[in-house]
Amino acid sequence: MTFIGAAKIENQTTTNDSKEMPKVRFLPLDVEVQVPKGTILLDAALDNNIKINHNCGGNCACSTCHVHIEQGYDSLGEKSEDEEDMLDEAENVTDVSRLACQCKVVEDLIVRIPESEFDDLDLDDDDL
Ligand code: FES
Repeated sequence: MTFIGAAKIENQTTTNDSKEMPKVRFLPLDVEVQVPKGTILLDAALDNNIKINHNCGGNCACSTCHVHIEQGYDSLGEKSEDEEDMLDEAENVTDVSRLACQCKVVEDLIVRIPESEFDDLDLDDDDL
C-alpha cells in the first residue's frame, strides 16, 4: 500500500515538473531545451548557446529575432502593436511568425529559425 501511494506522488511530481518546465525544440538545429515556464523565448535560446540574432537587445526595436512557431503558436498570446510593426520589417513573414524577444514560453514549442535570419549568425553546415 505504501509503495503504491509513493508511486502516485512521484507521477504527479513528474507531471507538474513538465508543466513548469516546457520544452522548446529549435529547428533546423534540432536542439531541444527545457526552460522554466515564463522564460522569454529569446533567452531560452541564448541561455542554451542557440544563436538567434537580437540586434536591439530584445527591446522590440528590430526584427532580427524573427522566428516561425511551428507548434504551440496559440500559447504565446496576442502580438503587441509594436511587435506587428517590427514584423512588417522582417523577411519571410508567415502566419506563425513571432519575435523571439516578445514571447514567453508557457507550453512546449517547436521553433524554426528562418534561413533569412542566418546571415549574421556565422553558422557552420554542421549547425544546420
Ligand atoms: S531582438 Fe530586436 S526585436 Fe527582438
